[in-house]
Amino acid sequence: MDGNGRWAAQRAKQRWAGHAAGVEALKLVVEAAPLHGIDTLTVFAFSADNWRRPKAEISQLMGFFASFIGSETAQLIECGVRLSVIGRRDRLGPGIVAAIARAEAATAGGTTLHLRIAIDYSARAAILQAANMPAADVSRELTIEEFSLRLCGDLTTSDVDLIIRTSGEQRLSDFLLWEVAYAELHFTERLWPDFGPQDLALALHDYATRDRRFGAIPEQVSAVECAEPKSLSAHPR
Ligand code: IPE
Ligand code: MG
Repeated sequence: MDGNGRWAAQRAKQRWAGHAAGVEALKLVVEAAPLHGIDTLTVFAFSADNWRRPKAEISQLMGFFASFIGSETAQLIECGVRLSVIGRRDRLGPGIVAAIARAEAATAGGTTLHLRIAIDYSARAAILQAANMPAADVSRELTIEEFSLRLCGDLTTSDVDLIIRTSGEQRLSDFLLWEVAYAELHFTERLWPDFGPQDLALALHDYATRDRRFGAIPEQVSAVECAEPKSLSAHPR
């Protein structure tokens, strides 16, 4: 969800106004995603490196996250959205940690869309943590599937189909590095607050033109695998 600051600067507004507009854009995208058959949407809200920002901006961002998570819970339940937050929690304030836990529990039954918000997230740190977990059986090496389970908790989130990177940036910035092994990449100049359902549709149209072979030759790949993306990621920073 990148480009909030530039969006604000273009309008001679303060950065927080860009973040506020970014929250509104997120609401519309969450609403639109399931209409396209997306079942998992992961958005990068705050990276482990975003702690380098000024304290005042960090606390504004945390305020936006807490208020989105708290005030949207009822709406998410109504729309069948299950909310999860990925990333470290030990550096977040107790208020937001409690709000996350409440929202995750309250929305746990949602089956229309799994919305994952990455806060204080670093893919490399997550991979390292999974690698350092004590093994139940040290006599053999882990399989890729077992490692995915360690890292992601469940296999429904272990393979991202499409990454959307907004605001003209073209890098992964430590986002879902393991999970994007075969992801298609879509880059758009659109700043996140301006990114709307029509941009999502455009990205999905672009995705649909891609020839996904997963290393095989075309006739080997089943039509099912080439169909619509199920797991989508929108990127910040
Ligand atoms: C993304 O917008 C929001 C977060 C990282 C939380 P930015 O704040 O990075 O916006 P730009 O890159 O300065 O435009
Ligand atoms: Mg940025």
